[in-house]
Amino acid sequence: RKKITIAIDGFSSTGKSTIAKLIAKKYNYIYVDSGAMYRAVTLFAKQNNFVGKEFLYEEKLISKLKEISLSFKFNEKLGFAEMFLNGKNVEKEIRTLAISQLVSKVATISEVRKKLVAEQHKMGNKSGVVMDGRDIGTVVFPNAELKLFMTASADKRATRRYKELIDRGDNVSFKDILFNVKERDRIDSTREDSPLLKADDAIEIDNSDMGIQEQFERICTLIDRKV
Ligand code: C5P
Repeated sequence: RKKITIAIDGFSSTGKSTIAKLIAKKYNYIYVDSGAMYRAVTLFAKQNNFVGKEFLYEEKLISKLKEISLSFKFNEKLGFAEMFLNGKNVEKEIRTLAISQLVSKVATISEVRKKLVAEQHKMGNKSGVVMDGRDIGTVVFPNAELKLFMTASADKRATRRYKELIDRGDNVSFKDILFNVKERDRIDSTREDSPLLKADDAIEIDNSDMGIQEQFERICTLIDRKV
């Protein structure tokens, strides 16, 4: 069977990575979580005090970008790849609300985007890749054979994310999660470099009232038509 490139973009917490992991498993594709890369750079910036709630020292971060080494390592037990920052597994730290509250600010920096897009190109240069993010179908892989754009109501998305964090034992409030989901969408959609946009040829999926299995089946049908 032919292997293709699948780009999944959309608003925050629309279940992009859940679907992408299922696709990767079924079709034996490489899955790349591009958001994890922006989150890891944000963790680095936070650890070095280049970013905080009230500040962003762009130039300082840009001058240290060369010192950031990102890699994904496949975890057999979990069945997906985990994010490593300079050799350290940061999978847990990058998923906290504290990082979610800073990442969209860091993702506005063109130099950061340039570095990460170059790495994404390398990871996706063989076909048989599914990548999720905000600019995959528009900027990273404009020639992807299948592009999906996921949406859902902010309330549904915040509810899912809230449950995820609570289940993990994080002490967060629903109000903060809802605000963060909306705020990230706002910053991601309005930034100058590679804003979150539905590509003209992307298929939009509103999963407000759709279960994972239903979405997965629908997407498999779309893939099977292409391969
Ligand atoms: O996908 P996830 O929600 O983990 O992404 C975290 C943040 O990283 C997004 O809100 C966005 O600011 C940034 N991002 C991006 N471009 C991508 C993926 C993520 O700007 N391709």
